[in-house]
Amino acid sequence: MKVVVFDTHKFDRMALEAANQGQHELRFLEVRLTEETALLASGYEAVCLFANDRADEKTLRSLKSAGVKLIALRSAGFNHVDIKCAKSLQLTVVRVPAYSPYAVAEYTVALLQTLNRKIHKAHNRVHDMNFSLDGLVGFDLHGKTVGVVGTGKIGKVFCQIMRGYDCRVLACDGQPDIDWGFKHNVQYVEREFLFKESDIVSLHVPLTPETNHIIDASALGLMKKDVIIVNTGRGALIETQALISSLKEQCIGGACLDVYEEEAGIFFSDLSENGINDDILARLLTFPNVLVTSHQAFLTREALKNIAETTISNISKFEKNLDISDVEVKI
Ligand code: NAI
Repeated sequence: MKVVVFDTHKFDRMALEAANQGQHELRFLEVRLTEETALLASGYEAVCLFANDRADEKTLRSLKSAGVKLIALRSAGFNHVDIKCAKSLQLTVVRVPAYSPYAVAEYTVALLQTLNRKIHKAHNRVHDMNFSLDGLVGFDLHGKTVGVVGTGKIGKVFCQIMRGYDCRVLACDGQPDIDWGFKHNVQYVEREFLFKESDIVSLHVPLTPETNHIIDASALGLMKKDVIIVNTGRGALIETQALISSLKEQCIGGACLDVYEEEAGIFFSDLSENGINDDILARLLTFPNVLVTSHQAFLTREALKNIAETTISNISKFEKNLDISDVEVKI
């Protein structure tokens, strides 16, 4: 099949080429899919998208008129595609439902511990020949209460890692897995209780209309004064302005953010020469107790290989009219 791959970078291009082995004709583009760039798909039967490509109604209509039949997502999340509209235009959408929950869960712990133990500051200090420890005090995770919102594939691995630290782990999920919770000593509770009780709150639900701004001013108002919020899910799970207000008023302990509501067009790009136009992100970056990374929780060799192999297999199955029910995104 002729496939145009949007928003590609060296790391995923190499993995896709290795998985493809010449099966499909892949054209790699660095630009993101938007309404303006959709015409670049003319003459291609499939587009391959990542988390910050935007397939809204207008873009999907352009893709349809360009001759596209398949949208192959290189992600698990599909909040960036108007699935209802794709369905009405008879555009098939496939995704990579699971590639490495360990990559994201382990990164969540890495972010948490970097902020807690101030490793990023220590690293910069010693390079400046400053070997002082003042201002680097953290806390033991042992015995702390960790609240996990969403116990799907990633949330479960994260809970189990936190149990390894001997944390008390509370969880909430629309579909709780009671047997798993019992086995791993993870206690399912109501969301408000989780917010009130937790020293750390970590988000692992998909972005949907129900989870949009799941952390807003009222949720933040319930939390402990020194809570650390970790978001490796999707940016819009947190209402960023409300988070900034809480940080300014010192009502929370800190935040670790691998994702940001308005990350599209900023994350994955080198803007070091021109800076950013986003005043909200700029403000976030000024807090000493906020750690921001550029949507990299998935970025392990294992995850990239799995994403690429599943994506190529999804495209091949579609081309050969084979069963795609396990990877097709439905409404
Ligand atoms: P999953 O589908 O295995 O688990 C999601 C869980 O959330 C399910 O247990 C589901 O019941 C629960 N849930 C859904 N809606 C809910 C609601 N309204 N209230 C309470 N619980 C709800 O997904 P997985 O693989 O664990 O991934 C979670 C999210 O992590 C993805 O949707 C994606 O947005 C994000 N992600 C981020 C990455 C990164 O690089 N930062 C990489 C991969 C995923």
